[in-house]
Amino acid sequence: MSAGSSRDPTASAAGTAVPREIQTAPPDDSGKLGRPIVLGFSQLGSESDWRRANTKSIQEAAAEAGMTLTLENAEQSQEKQIEAIRSFIKSKVDVIAFAPVIQSGWEPILKEAKQAGIPVILTDRAVDVQDSSLYVTFIGSDFYEEGVKAGKYLLDKMRDKPGPVRIVELAGTVGSSPSIDRGQGFRDTIASRPELTIVRSAPADFTFEKGKTVMADFLRKEKEPPQVLFAHNDDMALGAIEAIEEAGLKPGKDIVIISVDGTRKAFEMMAKGKINSVVECNPLLGPMIMQAAKEIMQGRTLPKRIAPPESVFTEEMAAKEVDNRKY
Ligand code: AHR
Repeated sequence: MSAGSSRDPTASAAGTAVPREIQTAPPDDSGKLGRPIVLGFSQLGSESDWRRANTKSIQEAAAEAGMTLTLENAEQSQEKQIEAIRSFIKSKVDVIAFAPVIQSGWEPILKEAKQAGIPVILTDRAVDVQDSSLYVTFIGSDFYEEGVKAGKYLLDKMRDKPGPVRIVELAGTVGSSPSIDRGQGFRDTIASRPELTIVRSAPADFTFEKGKTVMADFLRKEKEPPQVLFAHNDDMALGAIEAIEEAGLKPGKDIVIISVDGTRKAFEMMAKGKINSVVECNPLLGPMIMQAAKEIMQGRTLPKRIAPPESVFTEEMAAKEVDNRKY
C-alpha cells in the first residue's frame, strides 16, 4: 500500500480483519539514515472506535513523517503480538512500537528486542516489567487518573443523594492496564463515600456487543435497577444503553452513565442525555509515536513517559462539543 493511503489497515474490503499491512514511504530525511525509518507496529486489535482511530492515526502519521510502517493486527492475542514483534526483530526494523493487549508476560520478547539492539516504544497500554530499560518510552494515557476523574464526577453528581447508591461496572479486557487502572482509580475515589457501592462488575472486553449482553445480564440479576453504570469505554456504554432501553428504562435518567474515551458516537448520546459524563482518552497518538521514533534514530534521549492532554465532558457541554470530536 502507498504511503498516502488512509484505509484502515485492520479492515479488508469485505470488512473482516486482515493481519498485516505494509505501508511504504518515499525516501526522506527521517533521522540520520538517508532512507526512511522502518517502523514495525503491533496493534492489539480492532475492538472499539477508539482502537480504529488509534490505528488510523498511526498509519496517517507514519505516511506524513515519511516512514515505512509494517502494521500487524493481533486480534486480541498476546501470542500473535509476540510473534509479530519477533518477526520485526528478524526483519531488522529500525524501531518497534506496540500496544500490549494485557500487562504481563512481555519480559522475554522485550529482552530479545534489546539483545538485537532494536529500540522499543511502548504505546497506549502499560506492561508489567521489572527492567524499564526494556523500552525507551511509554506514550499513552494515565488510566488510573481517568478512573479518578470518573469517580470525582460521580461524587459530585451524588453529592446531595443519600445512600445507598448501587453501581454496576462494565470492565474492559481482563488483565489489561486500562481495565485494571480505571477500575482502581474509580474505587479509590469513591471510597470516601462508603454508601456508594459497586454491586456488580464483569468484563465486557471493550466491545459494544459484550457491553450490551453483560448489562442485560446485570439488569436481569438485580432485583432493583442500579442507579449508576461505570463503563470502562464508550463502546460498552453504547451497548449497555441498548440493553437499558430494551429493559424499559431511561439511560442517563434512571441510570447515571459514566464512560471513558470520548468518541463522537458517545458525544451524540451525551447530547441526547443518555450518557451523563465521558472521561476523555486520546487515541490520536500517531504523531507522538513518529516524533519519538525519529528522535530515537537521531540518538536523542526521550522522557520515559509521554501522556497526551485529556479532559472530562458532561452532558451540559455535549451539544456544543460534538462537532469538534475527531474520532
Ligand atoms: O487501551 C485503550 C482502551 O482500549 C480504550 O479505552 C478502549 O476503547 C480500547 O479498546
